[in-house]
Amino acid sequence: MAGRPAAHPEVLCSLQPGRTSEVIMKPPHHVALLLFFCTSLLLCALTPVKAIIWREAEALVNWKASLADADESLGSWSIANSTSLCRWTHITCNSARHIRELDLTDATLNGTLDDFDFSAFPHLDKLTLCNNSLYGTIPAGIGNLTSLVVLQIVSNPSLRGAIPRSIWQLKHLTVLELVHLGLDDTLPEEVGNLTILEELDLGSVTLTGSIPLTMGMLMKLRFLSLEGNNLTGSIPLEIGNMTELQEMHFSDNYLEGQLPGTTTHLRKLQDLFLSDNQLGGHIVPKLGNSSHLDTVAIAHNNFTGPFPSSICIGGALRIIIAGYNGFTSLHRHIFQNCTALQSVDFTANNIVADLKDCFGEHLGLPRTMVFSQNHLYGTLLTDRGEAFFCNYTNLNILDLSNNALYGGLSKCFWDLKRLALVDLSSNSFSGVVPFSRTCEDRLYYLHLANNHFEGTFPLGLEKCKNLITLDLGGNNFSGTIPSWVSKSFPRLKFLRLSSNMFDGTIPHQILQFRHLQLLDLSKNKFIGSIPDDFTNFTGMVHEQTNIDFIDADHYMHIEQIQIVWKNADHVYIIMRAGMAGIDLSGNSLSQEIPNGLTTLLGLRYLNLSGNHLSGSVPRDIGNLVLLEALDLSQNQLSGEIPPSFVDLKSMSTLNLSSNGLSGRIPMGSQLQTLVDPSIYSNNPGLCGFPLKDCELINVDRKWNNPCRR
Ligand SMILES: *[C@@H]1O[C@H](CO)[C@@H](O)[C@H](O)[C@H]1NC(C)=O
Ligand SMILES: *[C@@H]1O[C@H](CO)[C@@H](O)[C@H](O)[C@H]1NC(C)=O
Ligand SMILES: *[C@@H]1O[C@H](CO)[C@@H](O)[C@H](O)[C@H]1NC(C)=O
Ligand SMILES: *[C@@H]1O[C@H](CO)[C@@H](O)[C@H](O)[C@H]1NC(C)=O
Ligand SMILES: *[C@@H]1O[C@H](CO)[C@@H](O)[C@H](O)[C@H]1NC(C)=O
Ligand SMILES: *[C@@H]1O[C@H](CO)[C@@H](O)[C@H](O)[C@H]1NC(C)=O
Ligand SMILES: *[C@@H]1O[C@H](CO)[C@@H](O)[C@H](O)[C@H]1NC(C)=O
Ligand SMILES: *[C@@H]1O[C@H](CO)[C@@H](O)[C@H](O)[C@H]1NC(C)=O
Ligand SMILES: *[C@@H]1O[C@H](CO)[C@@H](O)[C@H](O)[C@H]1NC(C)=O
Ligand SMILES: *[C@@H]1O[C@H](CO)[C@@H](O)[C@H](O)[C@H]1NC(C)=O
Ligand SMILES: *[C@@H]1O[C@H](CO)[C@@H](O)[C@H](O)[C@H]1NC(C)=O
Repeated sequence: MAGRPAAHPEVLCSLQPGRTSEVIMKPPHHVALLLFFCTSLLLCALTPVKAIIWREAEALVNWKASLADADESLGSWSIANSTSLCRWTHITCNSARHIRELDLTDATLNGTLDDFDFSAFPHLDKLTLCNNSLYGTIPAGIGNLTSLVVLQIVSNPSLRGAIPRSIWQLKHLTVLELVHLGLDDTLPEEVGNLTILEELDLGSVTLTGSIPLTMGMLMKLRFLSLEGNNLTGSIPLEIGNMTELQEMHFSDNYLEGQLPGTTTHLRKLQDLFLSDNQLGGHIVPKLGNSSHLDTVAIAHNNFTGPFPSSICIGGALRIIIAGYNGFTSLHRHIFQNCTALQSVDFTANNIVADLKDCFGEHLGLPRTMVFSQNHLYGTLLTDRGEAFFCNYTNLNILDLSNNALYGGLSKCFWDLKRLALVDLSSNSFSGVVPFSRTCEDRLYYLHLANNHFEGTFPLGLEKCKNLITLDLGGNNFSGTIPSWVSKSFPRLKFLRLSSNMFDGTIPHQILQFRHLQLLDLSKNKFIGSIPDDFTNFTGMVHEQTNIDFIDADHYMHIEQIQIVWKNADHVYIIMRAGMAGIDLSGNSLSQEIPNGLTTLLGLRYLNLSGNHLSGSVPRDIGNLVLLEALDLSQNQLSGEIPPSFVDLKSMSTLNLSSNGLSGRIPMGSQLQTLVDPSIYSNNPGLCGFPLKDCELINVDRKWNNPCRR
């Protein structure tokens, strides 16, 4: 730096005499440089403005020197280059050549703000420090940026400590963003001093304590976010004074009490985000009297009572996310005027209502309707036998699972062009699944489980060639599995037909599903052998790591399926993937367990219990190193447990009881953790841990002990 004298010495030479000694205290290369210029050019114009500019350059260079590896992003910042200060990277000057904006977004800054001389920037009106690796604290000196209008310190998770009180004195601020920092502070009353603030974002910083009443003094505020903090207490009534407010983000805190009625004074409100708090009580019925109201996200609170009836008065509402509360009712025709509605999610409330009353035929074009886990009743069909939402041609997700709906389905399901997920599980729907010659390409996930559907495997599905999940479990379907299934659903990953009355043999085409991860045919009446050509059955050959999720226009829906895993019913969240399993238990399958099963190295569970399988346990069973649960109980298996059993390193649930197995139970580290003897019970010839010693049995029983080792 010192080796390259500045090309334009006028800035350096403009130092006031009084500043020289101060500057001389700086690092040696500056000293050399200054002495050189100030002795060789004695007749400089010494104006105060230039001195300040010099001071700005000097302050930046000093700070840069305190940062690690700053040369890459701040290369142009050097004393030798201070004449072109206004062309340095990240800097914008005003007409008087003072720094007006300092935007250090993504500048890979690694260091502290301790050496930043804020008092050198009296003209700075915008300071942006986003996405860097700053650590230490925000110095109180930041209060010297007295002209500051915009302050953004975002995504520096290692910044610690308090928000300096001096920030609340920066009275020209219109934008204050302190977001994703590692701070630890409360929100002081002084926040109300920043009366011209238009945008206040203090998301994830982490704030504790309560929201001060002075907040209401921010009457120009348009955007307010306090989300992702540890705020407690209630939302103050004074919030209603912020009449310019368009967005209120309070999600992910510990706020409690009621949503103040004064919220209805916020006539410009567009977005209300209160999810994941402990708010409760009734919501004022007049909520929604803002003609701009677009999104109401209040899930995971304790709200009760009727959902506000006027929610759609404004006519602009697009999104309601109100799941996991205690709402008890929906006003009749509440959604009638929601002509802009796209997503409605009332998962897990206590809503008792006739579905048709809530919606009716006049609703606009919603994409998502999620009402799972409520007490909705009524049918989906109109008097004409159509489903009343057949007109909702934009419908993308329809989840009405776990309600008390009944009646049949309409064939319009297969014609709704955008429908991607239908979950009608756990209701009382009945009848035959209607047939249609067509099925739209976008139908990926179909759950009809736990109803009273009957008839054969639904032939109308044959054209649904993009199905990924098909769950028909827990109904009264009968007949055979058609041989076309694997050809018709080449993308299928999850097939669940358990607990029906299906019979016949399992068609060998079932092993043509290349992507199948879950095959559950348990508790039916299947007979014959287990098909054994596993060449194309590749979905279970590798460990599953892919994550599928349903992203319907930025609204993420969680798809679930019921499986029996380690002797218990589980609701498995499909998007967490990672699961691969086969359950053929509770049928009348016979003959041997095909050795080909042992090539499915991704398997995490295999349940063949309660059949008539004979022969021996496949020799290579030990290949299944990811297998956590194996149930072969209640069959007619014979011979010894193969030695490879000790390689089942992941196994935590095993059941071999009620077979004709004999010989010594193999010894192995994982097997030694399975200490419950009943998992081997009712196999007259088995011995060894956790059953009796093979030798003891020999002596005790005095029979021909089959233990040969
Ligand atoms: C001085 O700054 C300008 C503008 O940023 C830059 O183009 C130039 O490379 C810098 N010169 C030095 C010596 O750093
Ligand atoms: C910051 O610099 C220190 C010291 O040079 C280094 O150990 C650390 O890894 C750097 N941090 C980042 C995020 O680059
Ligand atoms: C300005 O900075 C000085 C240190 O340079 C500090 O002592 C003073 O408290 C600061 N003023 C404000 C208002 O923060
Ligand atoms: C700043 O806020 C505090 C607390 O609300 C108040 O006492 C003080 O008078 C305010 N200062 C100014 C200058 O408004
Ligand atoms: C905020 O709450 C979380 C979860 O309760 C806790 O782990 C964390 O330590 C809290 N942070 C502060 C700053 O209180
Ligand atoms: C602010 O709100 C409170 C409570 O709603 C009210 O009493 C007060 O008059 C309001 N203040 C202003 C300035 O509007
Ligand atoms: C909605 O607000 C308007 C004024 O913007 C008012 O006239 C009307 O009475 C309000 N309606 C309800 C139901 O509060
Ligand atoms: C829907 O709008 C009409 C006309 O503005 C109004 O009469 C009716 O009461 C509204 N329905 C609901 C449920 O808000
Ligand atoms: C299945 O059908 C039989 C006979 O029609 C009936 O008794 C039984 O309740 C039905 N089961 C279910 C789950 O609907
Ligand atoms: C295997 O399936 C049967 C029902 O068919 C069930 O009772 C048992 O718990 C399952 N075994 C395991 C290990 O999950
Ligand atoms: C093992 O399977 C049998 C028969 O399927 C069952 O009765 C028993 O409860 C199971 N034992 C354990 C420990 O899961």
